[in-house]
Amino acid sequence: MAIMFSLWFFFHLDVRLSWLLLIAVGTFAIFYFTISYILEHLIFRKIKLIYKFISDTKADPEKAKIKNIPTLSIDNVNEDVVDWAERKEKELEAMKLLETYRKNFVGNISHELKTPLFSIQGYLHTLLDGAIYEEGINIDYLRRAANNAERLGNIVDDLEQINKLEDESFVIEKSSFSVKELTKEVFGDLKKMAEKKKINLKYKDGAALQSVVLADKEAIRKVLSNLIVNAIKYGSENGEVVLSFYEVETKILIEVSDTGIGVEEKHLKHLFDRFYRVDGSRSRAEGGSGLGLSIVKHAIEAHGEKIFVRSTPNVGTTFGFTLPKDK
Ligand SMILES: Nc1ncnc2c1ncn2[C@@H]1O[C@H](COP(=O)(O)OP(=O)(O)OP(=O)(O)O)[C@@H](O)[C@H]1O
Ligand SMILES: [Mg+2]
Repeated sequence: MAIMFSLWFFFHLDVRLSWLLLIAVGTFAIFYFTISYILEHLIFRKIKLIYKFISDTKADPEKAKIKNIPTLSIDNVNEDVVDWAERKEKELEAMKLLETYRKNFVGNISHELKTPLFSIQGYLHTLLDGAIYEEGINIDYLRRAANNAERLGNIVDDLEQINKLEDESFVIEKSSFSVKELTKEVFGDLKKMAEKKKINLKYKDGAALQSVVLADKEAIRKVLSNLIVNAIKYGSENGEVVLSFYEVETKILIEVSDTGIGVEEKHLKHLFDRFYRVDGSRSRAEGGSGLGLSIVKHAIEAHGEKIFVRSTPNVGTTFGFTLPKDK
C-alpha cells in the first residue's frame, strides 16, 4: 500500500522534483548503508571480539596470553586491553610461582618435622617394648628422644620467626647500641659450644670496636648468634671465629669469619634459601634444618641493609652485613 502510494506520488510530481527526490533517497540509502557497515565491521565487531576475549579469559585464565588478543584498530581500547592482559599474565605467573613455592615450603616443613618426630616415636616404642627396663639403654634413649623433641621445638621457633619477619606489618624496633657489647654477650652464650671444638672466639685488632649502631637489638642478636653458631658448627677444631667491624661512610660493616670447611662457589647463591644445606647429612647431624641463614637475611633486609658471603673451601667462610651507624 505504501509502495503504491509512493509510486503514485512520484509519477504525479514534477519531473525535476522527482529526480531530486530520487537522488535524495539514493544518497540517504548509500549514507545509511555505509555508516551501518562501518559500525558493524569496524566498531561493533571489534567490541564483540574484545568481549569474547574477556569472557574466554575469565573462564580460562590460561587464555590471558597476549597472542590471543584480537587485533584491534581502535587504538585506546587496544592499549587498555593489552595493558590489562599483560597485568593478568604477570599476576598469573606470580600466582603460579607462589603456588610452587608454597608446595615446596609445605613439603620441606613436613620433611623436616618428620625426621625428629619419627626418631622420638622410634625411641619411645623401643622403650615401651621392653628397653625401659634395660639399664644403660633406657636413659640413653630417653635423652635422644628429648634431644629430638628439642630439635622439633627449634624448627617450629625458626618457622615462627620467619613468619614474623615476612609479615608486612612487621616493624623493627630501633635503638642505639654498641655492636661490640652485643657480640660480647653472644660470645658468652656460645663459649661452651666453642670450647668443645677448641675454637677461639675473638675480635679483629684495630677494628672499629666502639661502633654504635641504630638497629633492632634483639633481631641483630639472633643474626650474630646464627652466624657465630654456623662458624663454630662448620669450623675446624682448634680454629678461630673472628668478629670484625669497619666504618664505611654512614654504615658499620660487621664480618664473622671462620677457619672451617668453607663452601664451594656453586652453593654460595643458595645459602640464604630456606632449608638449603650444602651437605644435608652433616648439617642434620649438627642439628640444623637450613633455616638459620634465611632468618638472618630477612632480619638484615628488614633494616634495609645487605648481607653477603665469601668463602674458600677448606680455608674458611666470611659472612658480612651492614647496619646504620648511630650519629
Ligand atoms: N660458616 C659456614 N661454613 C660453611 N658452611 C656454612 C657456614 N654457614 C652455613 N653454611 C652452610 O649453609 C647451610 C645453611 O645454613 P643455615 O644456617 O641456614 O642452616 P643450618 O645451619 O644447616 O641449620 P639451622 O637452621 O639450625 O641454622 C648449612 O647447612 C651449611 O651447609
Ligand atoms: Mg645455621
